[in-house]
Amino acid sequence: MHSPRPAVVARAPGRVNLIGEHTDYNGGQCLPFAIRLATTATVTLRADDQLRMTSTEAAPGDALWQRYVVGVVAELRAAGWTVPGLDIGLASTVPLGGGLSSSAALECAVATAVAGLLGIPLDADTRRLLAGACRRAETDHVGAPTGGMDQLASMLGAEGHALLVDFADPGGPATTPVPLPVTAAGLALLVTDTGVRHSLADGDGGYAQRRRECEAGEPRRLRHVTTENDRVRAAVEAIDDGEWDRLGALMTASHASLRDDFEVSVPQLDLAVETANGAGALGSRMTGGGFGGCTITLVAADRAAVVREAVDAAYAERGWARPVHHLVEPGPGAEVLSTAG
Ligand code: GLA
Repeated sequence: MHSPRPAVVARAPGRVNLIGEHTDYNGGQCLPFAIRLATTATVTLRADDQLRMTSTEAAPGDALWQRYVVGVVAELRAAGWTVPGLDIGLASTVPLGGGLSSSAALECAVATAVAGLLGIPLDADTRRLLAGACRRAETDHVGAPTGGMDQLASMLGAEGHALLVDFADPGGPATTPVPLPVTAAGLALLVTDTGVRHSLADGDGGYAQRRRECEAGEPRRLRHVTTENDRVRAAVEAIDDGEWDRLGALMTASHASLRDDFEVSVPQLDLAVETANGAGALGSRMTGGGFGGCTITLVAADRAAVVREAVDAAYAERGWARPVHHLVEPGPGAEVLSTAG
């Protein structure tokens, strides 16, 4: 007879970055928020020391996601946690590789479930530790040289709040919740998924190349970083003052900088941004690493449908596949959903 196996279910959200792109690995500021789309990890203690994992999302033969899981467990062990053999089952509502941090959601769901299994309380320090372990899982085990924003948003996000992250803080990234009352202001945040897919886990890809260019001090890339950091600070002020038009203008300026100075946009992102703004949005920008993925648009709630339809029509006119839209709002960070003995 087997002894009863403790099982823990945890969820961790994807994220959208409101503003502050390609600043995290440059010691700058960003303003992401956790969304309601999330990954759920069910973790069950095994009698042996193996890791076994299943996913309802993974395409047959795709083993990359397993490296994220193995990396998270390895990093938790390196941090001194005694992680036993586990069965790990994953399910997700975050579109995979779609710019909403499906990988951070996966990593953070596993890490949070393991914390639950070990009975470690999810206080702010533990959340920070887990965000760091998950980032290293991605950089050191998967080879995606990402900057840490996504994992912090997933672990430390809070209902109704964006998360100001300052990577310039010598004590490690400093995080400050920023109330983001968009719904109360009669506004909506519309994410438009272009359907163009990208991978950050590619050492020769554009993301890694941009990091190298920043490290080499390439002036145009650094001009984006400097102006973007200014825009993040201005965006926080605009939000505090309820100046939503100003926030929208900053978002659109961020897009122009990512397109022209940082050169990480693609025509599908540009068209979604231009069309949204032409249809009456307050502002719009690509969100995430770029080279595909999603835009985020700030729009009056009663105008969101018009904007979606305009973007769909513009894509159809070019013969591009219809984009997928999500209305998003800031939701809670990672949490343990249930524990069973
Ligand atoms: C990806 C990375 C983040 C960040 C953004 C760009 O989402 O995972 O760390 O660098 O790109 O802002």
